[in-house]
Amino acid sequence: MRFPTGFLLGAATAAYQIEGAAEEDGRGTSIWDTFSRTPGKVLHGDTGDIACDNYHRLDADLDLAAGLGLNSYRFSVAWPRIVPEGTGNINQKGLDFYKRLVEGLHARDITPMATLYHWDLPQPLQDGGGWACRDTVERFCEFTQTVLEALGDAVPMWVTVNEPFCAGMVGHLEGRHAPGLRDLRSALAATHHLLLAHGHAVSIVHARAPGRQAGITLNLSDITPASPAEADQAAARLLDGYENRWYLDAVLRGSYPADMLDWYGQQVPVDFIRDRDLDVIATASDFLGVNYYETKVVAADPREPYHHARVIPATGRLTAGGLDARPAALGRILRRVHGEYAPPPLYITESGAAFHDYVDPEGCVKDLERVTYLNDHLGEVLRAIQDGVDLRGYIAWSLLDNFEWADGYSRRFGLVYVEYGTQTRIPKASAHWYQQLIAAQQG
Ligand code: FCB
Repeated sequence: MRFPTGFLLGAATAAYQIEGAAEEDGRGTSIWDTFSRTPGKVLHGDTGDIACDNYHRLDADLDLAAGLGLNSYRFSVAWPRIVPEGTGNINQKGLDFYKRLVEGLHARDITPMATLYHWDLPQPLQDGGGWACRDTVERFCEFTQTVLEALGDAVPMWVTVNEPFCAGMVGHLEGRHAPGLRDLRSALAATHHLLLAHGHAVSIVHARAPGRQAGITLNLSDITPASPAEADQAAARLLDGYENRWYLDAVLRGSYPADMLDWYGQQVPVDFIRDRDLDVIATASDFLGVNYYETKVVAADPREPYHHARVIPATGRLTAGGLDARPAALGRILRRVHGEYAPPPLYITESGAAFHDYVDPEGCVKDLERVTYLNDHLGEVLRAIQDGVDLRGYIAWSLLDNFEWADGYSRRFGLVYVEYGTQTRIPKASAHWYQQLIAAQQG
């Protein structure tokens, strides 16, 4: 497979999922510390207290990334390490860690891509209302300015907010992620404020680090109605509005979809949108990040509370989480965004799958399912590019097995296996495959 010159082939991580060192060097508490330490919220009671211990193993992990030949690495900056109380005091040791990380990437010829918000809101801000409260947007702007002052020039690409759908709806309506609320109005307000935070962050990046790029990352699902019946079509459209269009329309068109405003408006007051907010949300950005994990076939079912769409269990090859991630769906998503939204250049900022990986008696992890996954999805990426989609990079999720949110350590998404007891890293077969693919681009 041959990608265009300059195409990014990298891997991604996020702070809370890998760093550990939760109590060290002045780091404050985030909503994920609170959530994961609350019994019953995360499988097996797992927390990110130690995770991959990346905070203490930074250089070795950067060597690992370099060893794979990655030309880009996406990481996130932990807000509670930089501003432990969410506002006010700045923790220099936190900034120093990320300076070291960014310098380490440059020293290894790896392009840094930094995410400003990958879900670790400082707990004191949650105590004051969190993302459901508009003030949090200002706190995020302060944090963003601090990070940009310290690292702005050294990082060419800034992802403002990772997956506002998950942070907003999964965290505040479905309750499966921190802060674990189940309230539609809070959830909608949270998504709105996360989107607003994105718009402001784009302007801050442009002001503080001219020439550097900024964009949001959306998780987009491919959704197909189970039948041509009117009810199934309507359910698919509603789920598409719930997961995809709310975000795409806001960021790329500067408006929320009218049908979704109606749908939500029938249930709760949608009274948190102010004049000009949508203009801020649609601030021209330099790229759109797409995270791809799922394709869904859905039938109408009024018992589904949020969108009246029931996912028909797939029968094909599933990933360990039971997710149906067929490669053709990735192509459909890319062509759709390209065709319907006239987006800025696209990057796949995450794509990957969990499988039941294990270390065999020879000490190898032969994750052939992941090799197939990567091969097929990268094939789709190439086809989309040939069809005219301006797609400039594929960042695999994830460099390392890590703390997979509510699933704890039970889901292994890494190119590199992590033995949590000893913190041994074992590059899987997929890592070797990816390394060869990247090396072959240079020839
Ligand atoms: C995405 C998250 C990422 C990771 C993958 C599997 O929703 O952005 O942190 O957990 O799912």
